Amino acid sequence: MRYDSITEAIGNTPLVRIDPAVHGLAHIDLYAKLELLNPFGSVKDRAAWNMAGPRLAEAAAHGSQVVELSSGNTAKALAVLAGMYGLTFKSVTNRMRVPEIKDLLLLLGAEIEELPGQSECLDPTATDDPLTLFHRTLSEPGSAYLHTDQYFNPRNTEAHLAGTGPEIVKDLDGRAPDWFIACVGTAGSSTGVARVLREHDPAVRVVGLVAAKSDFIPGIRTIDEAHQVGLFDPGTYDSIEAVDSDEAIEGMLTLNRRCGILAGPTGGAAYFGAVRRLKAARAASSARQSAVFIVCDRVESYMSYVRRRRPDLFGRPRRANSPADLTDAEVQAAPAIGVEDARTWIGTGAPLVVDLRSPYAFAALHIDGSVNIVDELFEELLHGGLPFSRTRPVLLACPVGEKSARYAALLNRMGHPDVRSLAGGIIAWRDAGAPLVRD
Ligand SMILES: Cc1ncc(COP(=O)(O)O)c(C=O)c1O
Repeated sequence: MRYDSITEAIGNTPLVRIDPAVHGLAHIDLYAKLELLNPFGSVKDRAAWNMAGPRLAEAAAHGSQVVELSSGNTAKALAVLAGMYGLTFKSVTNRMRVPEIKDLLLLLGAEIEELPGQSECLDPTATDDPLTLFHRTLSEPGSAYLHTDQYFNPRNTEAHLAGTGPEIVKDLDGRAPDWFIACVGTAGSSTGVARVLREHDPAVRVVGLVAAKSDFIPGIRTIDEAHQVGLFDPGTYDSIEAVDSDEAIEGMLTLNRRCGILAGPTGGAAYFGAVRRLKAARAASSARQSAVFIVCDRVESYMSYVRRRRPDLFGRPRRANSPADLTDAEVQAAPAIGVEDARTWIGTGAPLVVDLRSPYAFAALHIDGSVNIVDELFEELLHGGLPFSRTRPVLLACPVGEKSARYAALLNRMGHPDVRSLAGGIIAWRDAGAPLVRD
């Protein structure tokens, strides 16, 4: 193979059969679409090139900056593409949560701007959060930015209508598989591929995978977050199912260790979700069937993510006091307090108010007298034991009351006698008209 440009190496990725001895479903031909073999390392190379490619030469003539709201693979591909045209790239994000990707973006020359997002910035006097305002600036006529707008740009989906979908059909000898399983981030890849497959066979069953609520799998969204995406249409999927980070890592390890596929966590989530779904469907039919799932990217960028969740894999003991160890029943039983009662409690009981949101959101507005310990740091502290005295009551606050409930349950389990979660979070506090301050 000889190319004039690395961009010609985007696409035409292999479709590799997973040995049935690994997944245990003798009647299923399960194939992995290896998007990790794209030149910049992920499925997003296709979308980035399709969205930016036609506009890069003009952007270079005007010296525009390429901008995207991404902290992951789209940013990585765009940083490379921008560099190839002598342009700079800016990644705008509300939180860079995978340090290896942040480092790689900086290495590639990207500028990173972290702004609070919709769910975190709670200033009732501002008509919009900073991220949305920035988004609007990007779209203004005469903007100096080339904004690829991956969550709304139909060219993201079209990359998979033209490439990924037809490649799968071609490699299956002109047929669509019986099942197609993919993780949902911007929804571009799952939507584009599903559309192509259904044109070949309307009976294909499409499974969209999202991250379990209050969990984090880098690259994919929870169902609530998916609903904020312009390209996401629930009608695309026959079912939308959740995978948690432990399951994603379990699937990833199977691909890495048993199949020779160096998939990252979302490839693992797709494998885990596919096998789980196909096992459940076996009760209804054990006829021979085929299924395809997407392996979006590679494992190497996620060492710190995996180490945090599975230190045992790195020869270290499993960490004590981890929110992931809580049962649903424990979280549901976590003590919560509504806004009015919380206000009274703050006035009379003087609890320590711990705000678990990002520093940007805290700086914008917070409950007077509260301390800001961002959730990831709080988790880190709890591994070492209770970080404050048992004699001081604690009120935990987060955007909507989900994370704080988990940590309240955990502190309870650790023996703290009086900890409560602010029900509905800072959003409920704001909506009730309770006072918030800015330092
Ligand atoms: C690692 C990873 N997996 C899965 C996805 C989901 O792909 P899509 O955005 O096409 O839904 C992404 C998207 O950024 C990703 O980075």
